[in-house]
Amino acid sequence: MNLPDLLDTLAKNSDRHLGDLVEWLKIPSISSDTSHRSQTAAAADWVAAKLKRAGLATELIPTEGHPMVFAETPAVPGAPVALVYGHYDVQPVEPLAQWHSPPFEPTVRNGNLYARGATDDKGQVLTHVQSVCDWLATGQPLPLQIKFLIEGEEEVGSENLERMLPSLRDRLACDCVVISDSSQYAENQPAITYGLRGIATYELEVNGPSQDLHSGSFGGAVMNPAIALCHLLSSMVDREGRIQIEGFYDDVIELSQAERDAWAQLPQSDEAFAKAVGVSELFGEKGFTSDERRWARPTFDINGLHSGHQGEGVKTIIPATALGKFSFRLVANQDPVKLTAAIEHHLQQHAPTGIQYTLKPDHGAPGMLANPESQYAVAASQAIETAFGVAPVMIREGGSIPIVTRFQDVLGCDCLLMGWGLSDDNTHSPNEKFKIQDYHRGIAASAILWNELGKLSESK
Ligand code: BES
Ligand code: MN
Ligand code: MN
Repeated sequence: MNLPDLLDTLAKNSDRHLGDLVEWLKIPSISSDTSHRSQTAAAADWVAAKLKRAGLATELIPTEGHPMVFAETPAVPGAPVALVYGHYDVQPVEPLAQWHSPPFEPTVRNGNLYARGATDDKGQVLTHVQSVCDWLATGQPLPLQIKFLIEGEEEVGSENLERMLPSLRDRLACDCVVISDSSQYAENQPAITYGLRGIATYELEVNGPSQDLHSGSFGGAVMNPAIALCHLLSSMVDREGRIQIEGFYDDVIELSQAERDAWAQLPQSDEAFAKAVGVSELFGEKGFTSDERRWARPTFDINGLHSGHQGEGVKTIIPATALGKFSFRLVANQDPVKLTAAIEHHLQQHAPTGIQYTLKPDHGAPGMLANPESQYAVAASQAIETAFGVAPVMIREGGSIPIVTRFQDVLGCDCLLMGWGLSDDNTHSPNEKFKIQDYHRGIAASAILWNELGKLSESK
């Protein structure tokens, strides 16, 4: 392949690339919302049709939930196999009133495309789809086999994919999984992400009296479930964010000095970071920088609270029930199953009498570490530097992609995370966006990556 020619072609196609993304973003594929089931399937159909039209062997793999899209180019003997993984499902859009343009009416403002899913993950995964489709349209063969697995349940924990993975092992067999579902370090400072945190989420329901009670007639004589819930949740963490559950830190792998030194070189500013998120001051475990806290330290968060009177004005009651949704971000080596047992023990020790509680563990995922020096990371670094004009920095990130460690374990492959997003993309929030220039640079970097990976053929 003549790479300069291909990059020229990609640039000429940039309007169509953007038009494609707009079309896909119009489909409201909210995986957690059962009322959006058929639209979620429509988003799978959209990308499957695109891959199929480009000549890839494409199929929809049904699951007990939303379908997965699988597609592949022909095998290239002696060359590596890359598996592009991404997700077409998106998070819910509430609060709607805070969106400046409707979430499923993609809108361009200031060089950004605004829509739910713009950066997480339709815009990012589509960069690889575009590079492969346009490469094939030149009539030249790809220098390696590329497979796609684009699923519709990442935002709800990828449980069906995890269950089905062993049976898909042969079809998904690859040397390296390529994922664009993370971020650059900063504007014009691309990154390769070699670590992600894991996650464990829970619901804790506290039940007291058989129905809401007048707080004047009964207050003081009956344990208030909302207070009990507050006590239980706050007993899990101290004021600096250190988790108080017995044994919680036992399996945490401490950061190496080399890693801390490398991260200290990154151009970070705590003031700018605080300003960007609208807080007066940053927060966290003593003795760690913000990047260390976000990327390599486990954390506890309350994600939702529900109890008592939510409507206007005063209602003096002791609510009959209280519900808390909370989660932990884990680091590599911490086991979500072991954590659930530790939380159960903690609750037994701390629960007040006079209430009942139920702990519902949701699906967990362990943290991920990849080899930052693999030949795939070297090839990606080359590709990113050529497309962005800046060499990527090596970082970890704090978010979770539940299936990545299963890919490492079940497929025995390397993982390469090259994110095109930015930290102010408003993922999971109102006004999600993707910088249009980064979409186009991502497409170019993807094409160059295929070219670089093709060169690894002889050494394989
Ligand atoms: N793309 C994110 C993961 C991510 C976030 C990677 C930030 C790197 C930086 C992914 O779509 C996501 O949101 N994952 C969820 C998983 C959860 C719902 C099981 C997460 O991290 O909360
Ligand atoms: Mn994502
Ligand atoms: Mn997400």
